[in-house]
Amino acid sequence: MTNISNRKDDHIQLALEARHQSELGSRFDRLTFEHSGLPELALEDTDIACHFLGRPISAPFMIGAMTGGCNNGELINQHLAEAAEHCHIPMALGSQRAALEQGLAQNVRRWAPNATILGNLGATQLQQSGLDLAKRAVESIDANALIIHLNPLQELVQPNGDRDWNLVLDAIQTCASELSVPVIIKEVGSGIGPSTAQKLVGAGVQWIEVAGRGGTSWASIELARNDSTREQQIAAPFVDWGMDTVDLLSQVRSACADVNLIGSGGVRNGVDIAKCIRLGAQMSALAQPFLAPALESSEAVIEKIEILQEQLRWTMFLTASQNLTALRSAPLI
Ligand SMILES: Cc1cc2nc3c(=O)[nH]c(=O)nc-3n(C[C@H](O)[C@H](O)[C@H](O)COP(=O)(O)O)c2cc1C
Repeated sequence: MTNISNRKDDHIQLALEARHQSELGSRFDRLTFEHSGLPELALEDTDIACHFLGRPISAPFMIGAMTGGCNNGELINQHLAEAAEHCHIPMALGSQRAALEQGLAQNVRRWAPNATILGNLGATQLQQSGLDLAKRAVESIDANALIIHLNPLQELVQPNGDRDWNLVLDAIQTCASELSVPVIIKEVGSGIGPSTAQKLVGAGVQWIEVAGRGGTSWASIELARNDSTREQQIAAPFVDWGMDTVDLLSQVRSACADVNLIGSGGVRNGVDIAKCIRLGAQMSALAQPFLAPALESSEAVIEKIEILQEQLRWTMFLTASQNLTALRSAPLI
């Protein structure tokens, strides 16, 4: 097994532990919808369906990026992909780097022939290997879009992580103009702020997944894997580094009026999904909440998706929002 596969297995085990969720928590709880005592609609009339990348989906959330190549990766991806196909919910793959480098088959379309599937690569891998790698990532899974993740803090804390981020924006610009599918740029839990978002939009990026602070802390996870006392001391103040998802959604929306936003990082239930939409996101994404169900079965993932959908419907009913357009202007306190 390669180092990358070992690392992925560590990540999966550590991400399941509550101590690697942001100690500060997310600010979703500080945002309150005005409760409607008079919804004037039936729960069953609430409509949560929408479009993502021009494709119809059943609700405005997706399974966030987690696994590519590792021991558990294939089974996890099978469960996630079968559930995505069954529920008409998009699924983002984890980094395809290991699979592409090792020439491994990427079977996700076997389980999800019709679902919206997003490929995934790290930005620094593109800087090193260029457009060709990005094209192979898309073609190998017939992806509907390519996610490129920005993770400079994680790379700093990770032993032997990439510390040279020169020319990353150029690589993103090339992908945005040359690939046949849309490019989505995401963080992994520290957030994409308004200044970075403006640079990305200037480079031709039309989709940003904020992936802010409030959920899984990658500095905390990588710190737990790093045996060097010296590096642990350096990294300690950065465990909660980053920008909160709720703050970012408003700030990025103000800075970049036309960019398509995906709210993520600490989204934990259907009420949080509704708050992302209310704050100007087209979509939301949850990663860690799908990990335990994905280790169990496709049915467990399907149940998780259905619970999130029902929570979103309840939120819409209790804010008298019949559809997502109405939810976008539901009163907040
Ligand atoms: C086990 C695990 C593996 C992850 N691997 C990737 C990855 O390969 N690529 C990526 O872009 N993000 C990856 N992420 C980050 C998530 O997509 C997400 O941005 C982050 O965990 C914050 O969302 P959350 O609070 O809902 O977990 C991973 C997350 C988890 C929990």
